[in-house]
Amino acid sequence: MAENYTVKEYADLINNKLSELLYDVKDGQDYILEAMNYSLSNGGKRIRPILVLEFCRACGGKVDDAINFACAIEMIHTYSLIHDDLPCMDNDDFRRGKPSCHKAYGEEYALLAGDGLLTLAFETALKSKNIKPEILVEAVRILANLAGVAGMVGGQVLDLQSEAAAPTLEKLQTIDKLKTGALIKASVLLGCYAANVVDNEKLKAAEKYAECIGMAFQIVDDILDVTSNSETLGKPVGSDEKNNKITYVSFMGVEKSEKIVDDLTNEAIASLEGFEGDTQFIKELALSLAKRNN
Ligand code: IPE
Ligand code: IPE
Ligand code: MG
Ligand code: MG
Ligand code: MG
Repeated sequence: MAENYTVKEYADLINNKLSELLYDVKDGQDYILEAMNYSLSNGGKRIRPILVLEFCRACGGKVDDAINFACAIEMIHTYSLIHDDLPCMDNDDFRRGKPSCHKAYGEEYALLAGDGLLTLAFETALKSKNIKPEILVEAVRILANLAGVAGMVGGQVLDLQSEAAAPTLEKLQTIDKLKTGALIKASVLLGCYAANVVDNEKLKAAEKYAECIGMAFQIVDDILDVTSNSETLGKPVGSDEKNNKITYVSFMGVEKSEKIVDDLTNEAIASLEGFEGDTQFIKELALSLAKRNN
């Protein structure tokens, strides 16, 4: 069986590879690289890249073969946070424990740092080694689909529109599924693809797990926005209320939202029943994400 890793070991692997990839770009555009690195380095929990690496491992693949996919997804996630914080979006001045990218580098460079990370992500994913060409193409197509209008970007659009017209609970679920769930889904699928897995049943189980923890992840984010403090979170609290955002918490309160998180977490764990391979880490991760405090 493949070697086990701890969350900390995975995070170290990811952080090292991210800085290597960034400074591999030697085109003299130091200022924008600095802005990209500023947002990318430190502070993030690295949940999505950890999911990529661990799903690859659970499928019997080598973590090394998944590292480029893992970094690509973290780059896309970080770009989404940079743009999410801009004054024209959530207008939040603090992220990952320090001033948001636009506060440190200005709006125009924050926009470009996001663009730079998004494009570097695809270059990075395509530089993956030991993945069959047809699987690599499908994986990158899925990444583009879930990061774009049919996924994260589309979710952000609906999220923005929800500020003007309060969504129904069903619509809110669609928003969360897209803005947050889509990249989490991409993470588990790319982990499987990095192990050259194309078994449909396995991919379906991974997808179900991702759907459940993705939704739970955003609900916890909404809960922490009202129950935590900015020091612990590394980003402002009260952002949703400030922006007139309807969330699970405003719909049904903290307690009921927590119950839904627990139900979704149990459902995520149950969905791995038929998943051949060592799923202990992924199950424990689902439980710890439900109980996270940042
Ligand atoms: C924050 O994501 C944005 C959401 C999709 C809820 P994370 O909570 O994973 O943020 P980092 O990467 O740890 O900073
Ligand atoms: C953001 O949701 C989801 C993204 C795609 C970035 P939020 O706006 O709630 O994320 P935070 O709370 O700012 O991290
Ligand atoms: Mg937002
Ligand atoms: Mg936000
Ligand atoms: Mg939030």
